Amino acid sequence: MFEVLPLLPNDPILGLSIAYANDVNADKVDLGVGVYKNDSGQTPIMKAVAEAEKLRIARDITKAYTPPAGVPGANEASTRLVFGAEHPAVAAGRVRTVQAPGGCGALRVAAELIQRAKPGATLWVSTPTWANHMPLLGSAGLKLREYPYYDYASHNINFAAMLATFNEIPRGDLVLLHACCHNPSGADLTNAQWDQVADVLVERGIIPFVDMAYQGFGEGLEEDAYGLRMLANRVPEMIVANSFSKNFGLYRERAASLSLVFADTRQADAGFSQVLNVARAIYSMPPAHGSTIVDIILHSDELTRLWQSELTQMRERIAGLRVHLVQSLSSLQQTRDFSFIAKERGMFSFLGLTVEQVRKLKSDYSIYMTDTSRISVAGLTKEKMDYVAKAIVAVL
Ligand code: LMR
Repeated sequence: MFEVLPLLPNDPILGLSIAYANDVNADKVDLGVGVYKNDSGQTPIMKAVAEAEKLRIARDITKAYTPPAGVPGANEASTRLVFGAEHPAVAAGRVRTVQAPGGCGALRVAAELIQRAKPGATLWVSTPTWANHMPLLGSAGLKLREYPYYDYASHNINFAAMLATFNEIPRGDLVLLHACCHNPSGADLTNAQWDQVADVLVERGIIPFVDMAYQGFGEGLEEDAYGLRMLANRVPEMIVANSFSKNFGLYRERAASLSLVFADTRQADAGFSQVLNVARAIYSMPPAHGSTIVDIILHSDELTRLWQSELTQMRERIAGLRVHLVQSLSSLQQTRDFSFIAKERGMFSFLGLTVEQVRKLKSDYSIYMTDTSRISVAGLTKEKMDYVAKAIVAVL
């Protein structure tokens, strides 16, 4: 039976990590996958996480199954982190949260739930969007369509075109929005733009589906949640897929949550039973370790403070690298303006290179990025900055 299956190429993002690991060049630089690295090029375990892991080991006395929705404390803490302390939709009992195996798991469970409620529903995604959104959500059966978002020439959001498309979207369709740190462009909506988006979604009865994979990496934990919290105040139904991979550095633990906003508590109870049933049919219940770490940290004032300060350091380090890269590039040439990189947020920016230039960076300099010239800024270090900037200028 399996003889019919052809060999597939490596994943466009994860495949870069494999190629990078196999590269023997001592100067190699990994700007591929969106994983935070410190100035030594390491992805360390956060101190707050390490402390919480010790507490978990001392505290836990069983490996028995968790409830189907995951660790209860983590659900309460995730809801508070995502929606804020006293969100009206939460207070009204309209929000239900379950843990999920990674942000991908949360997105996929949501897509399966949408399929149950509205088979073949249309989900509009930004152009461009994260490379895995299409296969992950499309293979659940959703119809995917695109709305204009990033203008490669001006390095700005094409907001007028985005709104114009939203104004044509049929009632009941869904739109996928990145809460912050847009992946792959790094270009985020301003609060005023979020408000305008909400006006159109409310007026047209379009359902927001928000992917929040980088809370705390843009402007701050509260600031980055502005759009989704405001939307949850204004729309009857909404979906939020939230990942702890980046902001708790829990990548391999597959820790994430899915929050659903329902029109009323009766629908919330029914929807919650359905989401548990979707999860049961795929993986039964989510992994417990990562979400227990989140539970412990967010229920300890001391560990929350430590975690927040570490997250702030990560955010500020990336912002500093952005400025440093712009300076390095402009000190070497004046023909191309890269100042947009310092204005963008989160892990990613497009350099604006051709596929040939990207491939030359890989073959001649062992600098790895996706073919779209998306770089994970967090993969830069002070030590490698000069090397990277010179290589980029050489291939321009
Ligand atoms: C990325 O975009 O690099 C990250 O979200 C990691 C992934 O799974 O693609």
